Amino acid sequence: MTALIEVAGLAKHFPLPRRGFGPRGAVRAVDGVSFRVAPGEVLGLVGESGSGKSTVGRLALRLLDPTAGRVRFDGQDITTASLRALRPLRRSMQMVFQDPYASLNPRRSVGEAIGEVLRLHGIGTRSERRDRAGALLAKVGLSAADLGRMPREFSGGQRQRIAIARALAVEPRFLVADEPVSALDVSVQAGILALLRGLQAELSLAMLFISHDLSVVEVMADRVMVLYLGRVMEVGPTRTMFTAPRHPYTAGLLAAAPRLDRGAAPAVVLRDEIPSPADPPSGCVFRTRCPFALADCAATVPEPRTVGPDHQMACIRDDVTF
Ligand SMILES: Nc1ncnc2c1ncn2[C@@H]1O[C@H](COP(=O)(O)OP(=O)(O)OP(=O)(O)O)[C@@H](O)[C@H]1O
Ligand code: SF4
Ligand SMILES: [Mg+2]
Repeated sequence: MTALIEVAGLAKHFPLPRRGFGPRGAVRAVDGVSFRVAPGEVLGLVGESGSGKSTVGRLALRLLDPTAGRVRFDGQDITTASLRALRPLRRSMQMVFQDPYASLNPRRSVGEAIGEVLRLHGIGTRSERRDRAGALLAKVGLSAADLGRMPREFSGGQRQRIAIARALAVEPRFLVADEPVSALDVSVQAGILALLRGLQAELSLAMLFISHDLSVVEVMADRVMVLYLGRVMEVGPTRTMFTAPRHPYTAGLLAAAPRLDRGAAPAVVLRDEIPSPADPPSGCVFRTRCPFALADCAATVPEPRTVGPDHQMACIRDDVTF
């Protein structure tokens, strides 16, 4: 598989305010994350709130500078690229955010919002940009007649369609969608997901699709990566992850979101609360909630290992099945 986006050993530690004379602590939001996304592939990223999903997305786009690790885009190392060197790449890497109300300027018409992005990237003349914005609106289920309307005239779902049109206007090759339907009514979520999946396939987009909702990831992703306290617990093909998970945390997430059509969910019950990423457990970060933890789990950080085709997980135990 030739990767379009490849990250290796990525870490982001946010320093905490200094207290007294002790050493300055840090929130270990992301700690040693590696993955690849091929052109035309959707990698789903799941995990509980605070597990580091958004931080991973922003690091992959170089919207944040990593504490450690490398990011490569289309073979080019962009980890330390200057803003100037990044500029031509920005067009190829776009993001769709969770909140469609915050992501559009309320004082700009929809046509202006899309035209502005095209102008910033030096695309087309004024009238060409307008034509293109109209065509994009039609592609996302609105129409060129909507170009002059203001964001407040649209529903949440329509605004998210506009945000998608704007992200795709510059013909990106990699899209990070960070909880793109979480703020929307359940009744409109399916339509937005179908639109995104359709456009992704049509344009052969590589996508990092972030969601805390397993049922959403199941329909969107080709592969799924499970994050816990900034570390990858398991990654594998979507079907394998949902039917034959190998990591206790993945099994616990599935058990917490049972589905009638999936038969009996693995009966792994997650104990306690997620610990603070400012003070993660030693060894396996999941051990304080893992029903299968052994004394050894506190000693070393489990390395991800291959357990099947395209399937890796980071747990020292081989004898646990769900
Ligand atoms: N700019 C920042 N400064 C300090 N801490 C941060 C910053 N951004 C994120 N964090 C912390 O990093 C951790 C991971 O945050 P992140 O937003 O990546 O998680 P998430 O998985 O996207 O969560 P959610 O599902 O709630 O969106 C959290 O503990 C968060 O408080
Ligand atoms: S390494 Fe230990 S604590 Fe971590 S998931 Fe495996 S059994 Fe549980
Ligand atoms: Mg987030």
